[in-house]
Amino acid sequence: MYDMKNDIQSVLADEATLATICDRLAAQITEDYRDSRDLVLVTVLKGSVLFATDLMRRIPLPCEMEFMKVSSYGKGTETSGFIQVHLDLKRDIKDADVIVIEDIIDSGRTLQKLQSLLAHRGAHSVKCCTLLDKPDRRQVDMHVDYVGMIIPDEFVVGYGLDYDEKYRNLPYVGILKPSVYEK
Ligand code: IMP
Ligand code: MG
Repeated sequence: MYDMKNDIQSVLADEATLATICDRLAAQITEDYRDSRDLVLVTVLKGSVLFATDLMRRIPLPCEMEFMKVSSYGKGTETSGFIQVHLDLKRDIKDADVIVIEDIIDSGRTLQKLQSLLAHRGAHSVKCCTLLDKPDRRQVDMHVDYVGMIIPDEFVVGYGLDYDEKYRNLPYVGILKPSVYEK
């Protein structure tokens, strides 16, 4: 049997830690949006799915779940670029309070472009909630409203995050052994 655990160098957030993070972020969101009349959680596929479902079930307010799949261009030294939308929302978000649910913020480019796209569609507000943040990697100046955990500049997998589409089903977040992707 191939045990994925052998590919993990160390665990950054175990199941109990992830549950505590979800409790804290859900409590903050619930307080901040208690008077919202149209709250929409926009889950960015695929990495954010496990986090979004754990977060959503802890928010006792009426809210909707939408999905988007995007990729950003203009990586590296390029400063301009655009976002390619592979799967779009199924509803109009005009006047809605939108929270983008992300797995991890690295350069910040994806989120920055996605936020401006959603704002241009007339949302009443657009905020962002990320499970993980790698601030050392940031290439654009942006504000993240809700952060689960700040992590060092390491490649991590699990709890939705993948390497080559694998490891999403690990119940914790761990640093992938470099030997896995250097071979
Ligand atoms: P960026 O913030 O635009 O650079 O893009 C962030 C995206 O890159 C995330 O949504 C992930 O899909 C991916 N990503 C960045 N760092 C990691 C990591 O450590 N593990 C897995 N995916 C990552
Ligand atoms: Mg992602």
